[in-house]
Amino acid sequence: MNERDTLRIDGSGRLTIGGADCVALARQFGTPLYCLDEDHIRNMMRAYRDTLAREYEGGGIVLYASKALCCKAMYLIARAEGIGADVVSGGELYTAAEAGFPAELLYFHGNNKTPEEIGQALDRRVGTFVIDSELEAERLEEQAARRHMTQKVLLRINPGVEAHTHAYIQTAKTDSKFGFSVQDGTAARMIGLLLSKPHLHLAGVHCHIGSQIFEKQSFAVAAEKCLAFLAECRRTLGFEAEELNLGGGFGIWYSDGDKMRDAAAYADDLRALISAVKKGCAAHGLRLPRLVVEPGRSIVGEAGITLYTAGAVKEIPGVRTYLAVDGGMFENPRYALYQAKYTALVADRAAEPPTRLYALAGKCCESGDLIGVDMPLPEVHPGDILAVLSTGAYNYSMASHYNRNLIPPVVLVKNGAADYIVRPETYEDLVRRDVLPERLR
Ligand code: LLP
Repeated sequence: MNERDTLRIDGSGRLTIGGADCVALARQFGTPLYCLDEDHIRNMMRAYRDTLAREYEGGGIVLYASKALCCKAMYLIARAEGIGADVVSGGELYTAAEAGFPAELLYFHGNNKTPEEIGQALDRRVGTFVIDSELEAERLEEQAARRHMTQKVLLRINPGVEAHTHAYIQTAKTDSKFGFSVQDGTAARMIGLLLSKPHLHLAGVHCHIGSQIFEKQSFAVAAEKCLAFLAECRRTLGFEAEELNLGGGFGIWYSDGDKMRDAAAYADDLRALISAVKKGCAAHGLRLPRLVVEPGRSIVGEAGITLYTAGAVKEIPGVRTYLAVDGGMFENPRYALYQAKYTALVADRAAEPPTRLYALAGKCCESGDLIGVDMPLPEVHPGDILAVLSTGAYNYSMASHYNRNLIPPVVLVKNGAADYIVRPETYEDLVRRDVLPERLR
């Protein structure tokens, strides 16, 4: 169990988040319900922000990777904590703008930004584009020229380091839709191309080697490869990078087998990355670039839980026992997509030792609609409130209306009290955009 302040089990075995009783939250707001602990989010943002400011003389910025959980409140929190954000679509950009987030602190990612999205981002004066195709470079140059603007850009490169959750491999071959390969020379060619564009200001490079990474070494290797590439660019093209963006990816705790770490441990990871950058710069005789990191999952993941009401139990002797909840892949598709592992607790008996394994089933018409298999729990009865932990990242942001289920609301908890940051949907919301052409009537 998480012994930090986010989740606690009180003396009578009840689970609390941010000081609020989970059963009471379920009663007040209904289930399924996404709950987020505000202090956890802020602590993580501060840990990254302060570490970068304290330990790195070259300057830089922490960005919240808003794909992890995108809604207006998250941009307000990021702004209040003095960090930037990355966005990957017109929709995320619009949400940030609606929240009043300063556009100059936004980095715009995406491997296929549409001409419309490029125009919107320019009109809003987004600080930095991260270029990920030649077509984008051409379109951006043309649109910036039309507006008499010079746009700051980074080039997304693929340094040939592939990180998996607990390991990394260095690959000579590049099979990814993201980034220009350093190894095969396309990255260097793109640097040359971007330098030739009068309305683009090339500030440096970006790389993101993967997500849910525990292997610190992989970040250091990626940093070193980027710096070696920048040293080569200086030699061959006379290009000196001002900025290096090393992406996100720090792994979080979901279940037994994952490391459980506090904000100080994540700060240590960033410190290790910073020292790799300094070492690499010294080795290659490079000036320290402005350093940018983009954590998403590690900021909101463990800050969040999802509350469900237990429903039907289906016991198949000798096979498994399914326990149905009132959510499913429409609000957490990560088991269906990645066989992701989660931990579940009964909210008012959180200290009770598990006695059996349940497959937590959703309510969608799909056999693979599970939240998890083999989840150890005490005997669960219909009506019990279940909490699934570490659902703050890539749950709400990946939710859908499959089977016309309503996407659950999100509440933000602070000092034991909760407020909606995403209000509940209604069935009317579901049919709002449906249209009946005359001939069908
Ligand atoms: N920067 C870039 C360019 C990214 O593509 C990502 C994540 C991040 C930053 C943030 O990485 P994080 O710190 O959150 O690991 N849906 C998947 C995760 C996809 C991650 C996509 N990119 C999941 O649920 O596991």
